[in-house]
Amino acid sequence: MRFYLITAIATLIILLTVLSFRQNVWQTNALPYDDEQLGLDDQITINFSHVVAENTPKGLAADKFAQLVKEKSQGKINVQVYPNGILYNDENELAALKNGAIQMIAPTISKMTEALPSWQVLDLPFLFENEDQIYAALHGELSKNLLAELSIINVHGLSFWNNGFKQIASKIEPIQTVEQFQGLTVRVMPSDLLVQQFNLLGAQPISTTFNDLYKKIQNNEILAQENTLSNLYSKGFYKMQPQITLSNHGLLAYGVLMNDDFWQSLDESSQNVITQSLKEMERWQHEQAVALNKINLQQLQDNPNVTFHSLSELQREQWAKTLQPIYQFYENIGNPQFLTQLYKDIEKTNGNF
Ligand code: LMR
Repeated sequence: MRFYLITAIATLIILLTVLSFRQNVWQTNALPYDDEQLGLDDQITINFSHVVAENTPKGLAADKFAQLVKEKSQGKINVQVYPNGILYNDENELAALKNGAIQMIAPTISKMTEALPSWQVLDLPFLFENEDQIYAALHGELSKNLLAELSIINVHGLSFWNNGFKQIASKIEPIQTVEQFQGLTVRVMPSDLLVQQFNLLGAQPISTTFNDLYKKIQNNEILAQENTLSNLYSKGFYKMQPQITLSNHGLLAYGVLMNDDFWQSLDESSQNVITQSLKEMERWQHEQAVALNKINLQQLQDNPNVTFHSLSELQREQWAKTLQPIYQFYENIGNPQFLTQLYKDIEKTNGNF
């Protein structure tokens, strides 16, 4: 009896050993060899959230940045891009960045102005005559001072990206004269200066997030908006607001921002990878934005339901004259030295100021 018991126990032990060996072999074989899995503990992930589509100046720039960083860090730094506001919208992305839920965002400059009123300098209307001047403003002396301001809110500023000139899109009638703004509901990004801009024009400015905008236009809560051609096209706004005035009256650009604790936690070589990647893509990003807005213009011009309008010299002068007090408004609420600095940066491109 004893002999049978010992034999049974020994058989069971042998059986379990064989089964566990087979299980180990099976698990090992089931995992394909993947060198990216090696050293996962050493990998750094940067979650980058933004609100627009991938095929836009910001969407393309975020993807290019991810690619450059991966190459330069030899796969050590992985930038995970979340477009279309799938993680956070423009109302809560700054808070998410600050509390460390994500590591990077690129909000429009206008959306940072509640926290940093001095940034409204780049919201001022009729500052820029051409794209070279925009490039000078986004990558010259002023840009360094603007990025430094971010330390006030414990955010690390990395760079600026361009989208381009804002135009006016309207649901019902074309907007060309100042009188046509009278009582018009116009969407603005959250910036006191942009609200003031439409107050001066006699319109009714309504501040709303990018993600809520489509619905509000659909419900007739908003009839017009100022935005770039790439945003009007990629988000389909032109289907509801098909009267587009090519006014080039203002700039839409982005601050590229990182959670400060996260930045401080990176070693020097990782920080260099990030700054060098952004530096290397500065010109590319700018030209990509210009090109994409041109392509979208052509696509919209090919659409028989969209009508384009331009401003005559006289109409442009009328807008500029009506908006002139906004410069004093900025001097009161912002930083007048930034405006002087901006003129100097622009002057370097054409000597006109
Ligand atoms: C908008 O709200 O219209 C833009 O800020 C969207 C964007 O990020 O380009």
